[in-house]
Amino acid sequence: MRTLVDNGPRVLVMVGLPARGKTYLARKLVRYLNWRGVTAQVFNVGNYRRRDLGSAQPAAFFDPDNPVGFEARRGVAQAALDDLMQWVAHNPNGVAVYDATNVTRSRRAHLTRTLAEVDIEPIFVESICTDEAVVEANIRETKLSMPDYADARPDAATRDFRARIAHYQRSYEPLTTSEGPWIKLVDVGEQVHLNRIRGFLPSRIVFFLMNLHIVPRPIFLMRHGESAYNVQKRIGGDPDLTERGRDFADRASQYLQRRCSTPPSLWTSTLQRTIQTASAFPWTPTALRSLDEIDAGRCDGWTYDEVRTQMPEEFAARKLDKLRYRYPRGESYEDVMDRLEPLIVELERQRDPVVIVAHQAVLRCLVAYLTDRSPEDCPFLEIPLHTVIELVPKAYPGAEVRTELGP
Ligand code: SIN
Repeated sequence: MRTLVDNGPRVLVMVGLPARGKTYLARKLVRYLNWRGVTAQVFNVGNYRRRDLGSAQPAAFFDPDNPVGFEARRGVAQAALDDLMQWVAHNPNGVAVYDATNVTRSRRAHLTRTLAEVDIEPIFVESICTDEAVVEANIRETKLSMPDYADARPDAATRDFRARIAHYQRSYEPLTTSEGPWIKLVDVGEQVHLNRIRGFLPSRIVFFLMNLHIVPRPIFLMRHGESAYNVQKRIGGDPDLTERGRDFADRASQYLQRRCSTPPSLWTSTLQRTIQTASAFPWTPTALRSLDEIDAGRCDGWTYDEVRTQMPEEFAARKLDKLRYRYPRGESYEDVMDRLEPLIVELERQRDPVVIVAHQAVLRCLVAYLTDRSPEDCPFLEIPLHTVIELVPKAYPGAEVRTELGP
């Protein structure tokens, strides 16, 4: 977070049985931190296992009483930890997330001791799920498509994965208060318990995690229909839609009604061109100032050619660093990201589909967050007019589907 006081690397250690959404939480958190300008990385032990031992390990491999499996698992867990230790040495203000089950107290004590050698006290993040239906859905939606079950039939894969969970369950020791700082998430989003969580970044992490859930739902993003300023190639302002823009609004309305199985939350900016676009949709919109277009300050209403000829230094400075460049008395892309943060949390919290009608720069920032692009790439993402972008938040950035709806 650009406003943060840096105070050394942080390590988060995931804890919990398989299929409790640990990887989803870890990856979402890292994506959020990277988007906010904090270097962060996940170290997933399952990936090290697949890399070093092959992906097709049967449930018996995870039996704590299987000495061969136990030793092999200890080896890949250590390989991930060694890489994490190297990474934190090179990223003094970074956040590393050690994504593994870590179900035993002795395993966690080993991690705590190892990290203490470099003066890091880990924060454990335990995900507990009391709802069998959620575990079942998680197995079906994510686990069966893992490389581990590439060649298995779905019923055999489900049986094997349940047997794997049962092996972990036998040695599972939930976190206790003597184990250091921790965050326990019960039924992702239902309850959050904290132990010795202090400071800005840890509190911020809790704030983000407590708003996450794992129910898949689509997010539709689009720019407003063509406006009078689009035709004149002017930036900013509060122009009306053109006739072509109104046509797009009608087509988008038909399209969204076909795509949304339940009524979506509909969000616009406070500017006329997004409000006019959304007025063609059959749902009540909420106008949010945080979705307003980047403030071009003194250049508001100008064409890029006018900026180039009348303010050549500004034009050159923007070209040099588009992410951090701030229009005179206006905003930079980084400023837009700062003001979008509460909206991102709100977006994560929603369980219904969400439709957002906004502007090019704002949508670049949202798409960058949702698709795991770096802040540096953000100002250059393509967000064309008259195109609906559909995304479903997942542990791994899902494919975005773009549908062009008009001339
Ligand atoms: C795995 O190998 O898939 C996970 C290892 C672990 O975290 O126990």
